[in-house]
Amino acid sequence: MQIVNRAVLGAGLIFWSVGSWAAPPPQAASCAACHGAEGQGLPAANYPRLAGLPAAYLAEQLQHFADGTRQNAIMAGMAKPLSAADIHAVAEYYAGLPVPSAAVAAAPDAALRQRGEWLAQYGDMAAGVPACFRCHAADGVGVAPVFPPLTGQSAKYLADQIAAWKQGTRKGDPNDLMHTVALRMTEADTQAVAAYLASLTPKAAVVTAVGAEMHSTGGAK
Ligand code: HEC
Ligand code: HEC
Repeated sequence: MQIVNRAVLGAGLIFWSVGSWAAPPPQAASCAACHGAEGQGLPAANYPRLAGLPAAYLAEQLQHFADGTRQNAIMAGMAKPLSAADIHAVAEYYAGLPVPSAAVAAAPDAALRQRGEWLAQYGDMAAGVPACFRCHAADGVGVAPVFPPLTGQSAKYLADQIAAWKQGTRKGDPNDLMHTVALRMTEADTQAVAAYLASLTPKAAVVTAVGAEMHSTGGAK
């Protein structure tokens, strides 16, 4: 199917993209209102991008919304009616959509960008914060199936997730990896790294078989 679509991004940026992919499954009909016709998300409203995220990650998050492991009122209502087969269908669909080709935000001011880039690349040894790119791959493109991309998401969405892990409203991350990272991050560092990551251009995730078993052992906590 040939689709020509106009997507409206973050700061009023508009781009045209031409793609060729499978028709959305009926279960995805209600998702587009928030996550966009191409799964590109709506950064201005902090609705995350789903296009090109690992299918196993997407499916697991939908289960977590449904069972309360990840607490969000909107997504609980969306995920609860979905059967296991529905979850599989929408996860595969969004994972197969093209990765958005533009960053959702402009680079933040120099001081914020410098700190954010440092944290992403090297972490903060004294604070015990590991480099984000160690797990999420260079430039935060993500490593399927376990580590989602950090690009193509709004700074506020990213910062909200760090806050949710700190508050315990988002759980189920394999081996508590993100809970541990989040607890060590200051509010200022969270804002800096989120602003930096939002300014990076999304690219296709790295794919590896290593770590796939984490999904089955991570579970709800
Ligand atoms: C009314 C708006 C709305 C609708 C409709 C909606 N979502 Fe969401 N979705 C959200 C918001 C807001 C979040 C972020 C929740 C959070 O911060 O934890 C989210 C998060 C997600 C995530 C987590 C993404 C990530 O990177 O971890 C997945 C997966 C998801 N939605 C899938 C779906 C699917 C599939 C549908 C349709 C069945 C759907 N959503 C419908 C608003 C919506
Ligand atoms: C030790 C590995 C590891 C490191 C280092 C790491 N992460 Fe993560 N991160 C993960 C895993 C695993 C997930 C998926 C969690 C899940 O499945 O619930 C994740 C998910 C996330 C998400 C949620 C994305 C989404 O779509 O909802 C954000 C935001 C995030 N990480 C930010 C960061 C930042 C910022 C850093 C650096 C300060 C970082 N991570 C470092 C392992 C890591």
